[in-house]
Amino acid sequence: MEETLDALKARALQDLAAIDSELLLVQIKARFLGKKGELTARMKGMAQLPPEQRREAGQQLNVLKDELEAAFADHLTLLRRAGLTRLESNRPDISLPGRVLPSGHVHPIEQILEEMEDIFIGLGFNVEEGPDIEDDFHNFEALNLPPGHPAREMQDTFYVSSNLLLRTQTSAAQVHTMLKQDPPLRMISPGAVYRSDMDISHSPMFHQVEGLMVDERVSMTDLKGVLLDFARRMFGPQTGIRFRASFFPFTEPSAEIDISCFICYGQGCRTCKHSGWIEIGGCGMVNPAVFRKIGRPEYDPSRIRGFAFGLGVERITMLKLGIADIRTLFENDLRLLHQF
Ligand code: DAH
Repeated sequence: MEETLDALKARALQDLAAIDSELLLVQIKARFLGKKGELTARMKGMAQLPPEQRREAGQQLNVLKDELEAAFADHLTLLRRAGLTRLESNRPDISLPGRVLPSGHVHPIEQILEEMEDIFIGLGFNVEEGPDIEDDFHNFEALNLPPGHPAREMQDTFYVSSNLLLRTQTSAAQVHTMLKQDPPLRMISPGAVYRSDMDISHSPMFHQVEGLMVDERVSMTDLKGVLLDFARRMFGPQTGIRFRASFFPFTEPSAEIDISCFICYGQGCRTCKHSGWIEIGGCGMVNPAVFRKIGRPEYDPSRIRGFAFGLGVERITMLKLGIADIRTLFENDLRLLHQF
């Protein structure tokens, strides 16, 4: 027997009650009221009824159709209102404070490097960067470090291949610059250098600032003046410097650069090991042998002279920031880094 209209209505309303999205609502509405919907089928079916029943059946069907349409419309309103309420309850509170993004800052080594660069740029030096991987010629040979020199031995140098190595000194950048630029020259080269070494004052990677000035009349006095000016800007106007005789293959004469202790002013303290002086690098007058290795007529050692220096960036950073162990600079412990 055919389902009564009341049963059909009850079924439709029951289905409708379970609907929670507009998409499903459209689908269920089509199922009952669409062109191929159940109610539409019933209406088409009236043609088969005897004429005297048609009128009443038609009225009943129309009433049911109106009722269902009203029910669907009501349910749609309900769904939309619920949707708005959901939006409303999820509305962001724009008065809340924003999330603070943690921001990094420049590493202490880089801060000091930049400070050093600024000082030398102010003295008329250009910045020339060399590569970290060098060949034997640039790192050793051209700098008058003959084969067999202790610094060339395996325990000091990281070799990439028999002829390539991680540069052990930024002095290698001097060679690049002299090969491509004519004198007069005033350059510094800041950067990382590498040596197979590690303890409280040595790290396998550390930084140097190399300096080179070449011209017809360059003297040790100029060298001392430049370094004194640097030391005063870096460590304070009372700072003094002294040269201690030393040896480097690429300079002659050579000296270690000491600054007067800026902590005890010569009274004697732990930092200067009670000597009143602190070493910050090496320097000297460019050895004519280096100019000859460059092999360019512009660098004829009978016509030009030069001075050079190499400063240790970690050393200066540790002194300025009061850090005792070089390794703490590379552990990236935020408790340390945030202090600077
Ligand atoms: N290259 C030297 C080193 O790593 C430092 C140095 C000393 C550089 C004297 C120079 C210099 O330019 O003249 O130990």
